Amino acid sequence: MLGSPQLRPLGEALGTEALGVDLSRLDDETFAWIGNAFAEHPVLVFRDQKLGAADIAAFGRRFGVPRKHALVKYRHPEHPEVSWLTNVEEDGRVDWYGVKRATDWHTDSTYEEELPLLAMLHALEVPASKGGTMFAHMQAAYAALPAAMKERLAGLVGLHGRSSGPAGERLYGDDKGATERPYSELPRPAVVPHPVNGRPILFVNPMHTHGFVGVGRQAAWELIEELAAHSTQERFVYYHSWQVGDLLIWDERATMHRGAGDYHPQERRIMLRTIVYPN
Ligand SMILES: [Fe+2]
Repeated sequence: MLGSPQLRPLGEALGTEALGVDLSRLDDETFAWIGNAFAEHPVLVFRDQKLGAADIAAFGRRFGVPRKHALVKYRHPEHPEVSWLTNVEEDGRVDWYGVKRATDWHTDSTYEEELPLLAMLHALEVPASKGGTMFAHMQAAYAALPAAMKERLAGLVGLHGRSSGPAGERLYGDDKGATERPYSELPRPAVVPHPVNGRPILFVNPMHTHGFVGVGRQAAWELIEELAAHSTQERFVYYHSWQVGDLLIWDERATMHRGAGDYHPQERRIMLRTIVYPN
């Protein structure tokens, strides 16, 4: 350990910097400290890290099981549980799917049986300005809902599909990217307790939630949009401006995220990413 690691807030609602940690030589004591910090701070940033795909997979394995990404094209050849988040094709041209990918609010993979614990991104090349990633605190968003809405949501079960919600349709339409298998609809309660800290999470995201059990399509669509507008107000959001060497982890249950999609596409933006599931 490099002395005692410390926490420093980055944003009002969430976003916390972890100082004094070198993830390339992580000992058990420091990892325990990170685990405790992460339970309370759902977006943690480690600056000035220099990690390869193997290091990222190893850090992921400390938490659980890193999993191969659904989009085959972006998998790392030697470490398929690590994938590229890039706007550059192999021949150096702009990857337009990579540019627009994930640039609206979502929680990852809520249409799959098993939910991820967390995801991580490591910045290798970043635009000169902008090109950030945004996070919304879905526990803070839930806590701030009017009592009547909390009551309404208590009985609701959301229906999740792959990018089939209002934001998914707007962003991708019929061009959702090739996956190894098709996905069907999956029901999930609209409000869930956090498995570690127990606080309720608003678990509806406009990318993958496309309805609610027993609610007509139009009413459901409107509710999804209303909840998305509520939870992405500035007071619940942190915009992360990337620096090369940042390794950021986010809680996949307590937050939504999106690429800001606000940079010039000719500027290279390359990151390594992994997503981690419970053991
Ligand atoms: Fe995502």
